[in-house]
Amino acid sequence: MRRSFEYDMRHAERGMSGSEVYRYPRYYAIGYRWNTEAECDFIEACLKTHGPTGAKRLLDIGCGSGRHLTVLAKRGYHVSGVDLSPEMIAYVEQEAKDANLPITAAVDDLRRLKVKGTYDVACCFMDTFRFLLTNEEITAHLRAVAKLLAPGGLYLTDFWVPCQWDKIGGEIHQWEQTEGDVTVRVFYLQHPDSIDPIQQTFEDELVFEVREGGCTREIRGGPTRTRLLLPQEFRALVNGSGAFTLLASYGEFDLAKPFDHDSLSWRMISVLKKRVP
Ligand SMILES: C[S@@+](CC[C@H](N)C(=O)[O-])C[C@H]1O[C@@H](n2cnc3c(N)ncnc32)[C@H](O)[C@@H]1O
Repeated sequence: MRRSFEYDMRHAERGMSGSEVYRYPRYYAIGYRWNTEAECDFIEACLKTHGPTGAKRLLDIGCGSGRHLTVLAKRGYHVSGVDLSPEMIAYVEQEAKDANLPITAAVDDLRRLKVKGTYDVACCFMDTFRFLLTNEEITAHLRAVAKLLAPGGLYLTDFWVPCQWDKIGGEIHQWEQTEGDVTVRVFYLQHPDSIDPIQQTFEDELVFEVREGGCTREIRGGPTRTRLLLPQEFRALVNGSGAFTLLASYGEFDLAKPFDHDSLSWRMISVLKKRVP
């Protein structure tokens, strides 16, 4: 499988737009369901340990198919989600209606948030934060999120960082999830030939291989430009924003697993607390 992708990658069309796979929320929901309960447990643990008292209001930035929104709404949280993909938002709204859950969702862009309201916690999970390509975009985003948070509110981020220097821009991950008669195999690919060392960006890509009703189809997301954001740089940007204090980073969705040299994780999960102005 890896071999064929190496071949295809040379012929992939280059683009800046959102991945094509985000137009298939049901397949996304199946492919990404594996760790959702644990991620929601982590959100609750963060709120209990570091959040404002009685915190119940959550904003999910880049909410995708709403996998966290649904679980947390069932747990009694007041949840809202925003996402750039109209297909994802329509899916979240339909799921909420079908399950009779009070979830609000809207199309919005994390680079220039228009969402209103006051929240105790915001989250931006599964690499969505790396769509902020420049230091200026990251700083402006952090300040915009802080304005949406109540005093003492938390912002939880979760994005890929390279586990080894010689792997930067060259990682491939894949996993498979099944629901009923639908199996979705997700491929996360990085295009090493697209690295821009000055801007610190590169293109990555999601591919879904969907097996359904005896047929197999491939949905290629198309290359999407993303930011390479390193741990110390993230810390400096958070501090420089003046909007948040970086409380800690974790190697898993577990407050007992700090992000350290023993962590083989390709995700860094961080807890930011809104600063007192
Ligand atoms: C990898 S998915 C993560 C979804 C969700 N956070 C999760 O954990 O499953 C990335 C999501 O970010 C959305 N997205 C991409 N660019 C965005 C932007 N500029 N503003 C808001 N959402 C964006 C995509 O439509 C997609 O739903």
